Amino acid sequence: MRQTALHGYDILGLRGMSKDNIDLILHTAAKMKALLQRGKKDMELLSGKSVAIVFYENSTRTRLSFELAAKYLGAHVVSMSEQGSSVAKGESLEDTLDTIAMMAADAIVIRHSHSGAPTVMASKIDVPIINAGDGMNEHPTQALLDMYTMLEYKGRLDGLKVAIVGDIYHSRVARSNIWGLTKMGAQVVVAGPPTLLPKDIEAMGAQVSSDVEYAIKGADVVMGLRMQRERQSAGLVPSLAEYTRYFGINAQRLAMAKGDAILMHPRPANIGMEISADIINGPQSVISRQVTNGVAVRMALLYLILGGGDDIEDID
Ligand code: CP
Repeated sequence: MRQTALHGYDILGLRGMSKDNIDLILHTAAKMKALLQRGKKDMELLSGKSVAIVFYENSTRTRLSFELAAKYLGAHVVSMSEQGSSVAKGESLEDTLDTIAMMAADAIVIRHSHSGAPTVMASKIDVPIINAGDGMNEHPTQALLDMYTMLEYKGRLDGLKVAIVGDIYHSRVARSNIWGLTKMGAQVVVAGPPTLLPKDIEAMGAQVSSDVEYAIKGADVVMGLRMQRERQSAGLVPSLAEYTRYFGINAQRLAMAKGDAILMHPRPANIGMEISADIINGPQSVISRQVTNGVAVRMALLYLILGGGDDIEDID
């Protein structure tokens, strides 16, 4: 079996990922999606492999799509939350992951509230680590599924104008998308209240504006972000109603993008706050497709890290 370029790799973020590897993941995701569309959910590409899914923060989409992705590929899957585990008795993250590694897990998917936790663990644990979202740092698999969805609708990433609107400061989704999209040749403009625009964002390659209409004007892709009420320090926005008035994405603002622009959101969404109810399921919305594509992208990643090379072509 030929090994892929990502065999045994940690997936910690898109900041450190090469354009070639992003291309490889997106290309493989297209193959996985084609298999899923043919109803293939009982593949043996990862038979005999074990994937541990360890979440220290809440999740619906990322957690379930990793579980389904691993199962569709034939892997064994175990899943653990902070609550109900020995973490609640004070066991450290390193001891927890070490315990999982000692049980011969072949990959660990981790979500953690501390930025950098997966990176630190990857330096200590000899099992591939996949970052499923760490604090305010990165959410690489979300950005990969976002880029894959853009490719499906636009046929390219190079030259696209992508407007990312909302709470940039707390958003690991925004950071991973900026690292990934700029690497792939897209122009990224972020917009939000000045208090929610981190100072380092321009150095990452994005244009920054506190004028949402300037950011959306002429965009190919408009991406809203969740207002992360659980991570807000007091006083970052004067009021949520005012936030919606000045920065919420609504039909009038979406109309400033290109006529064929797509509307994205990683979800969960505060409907009526950062995005209006009339557009979230409207004709330009691809938000449901993002969720569907999350399974194919995570299948691609698990396959590339744990599986082989050629046998994906052999499935009929
Ligand atoms: N988009 C996203 O990460 O959703 P979950 O928190 O439900 O996984």
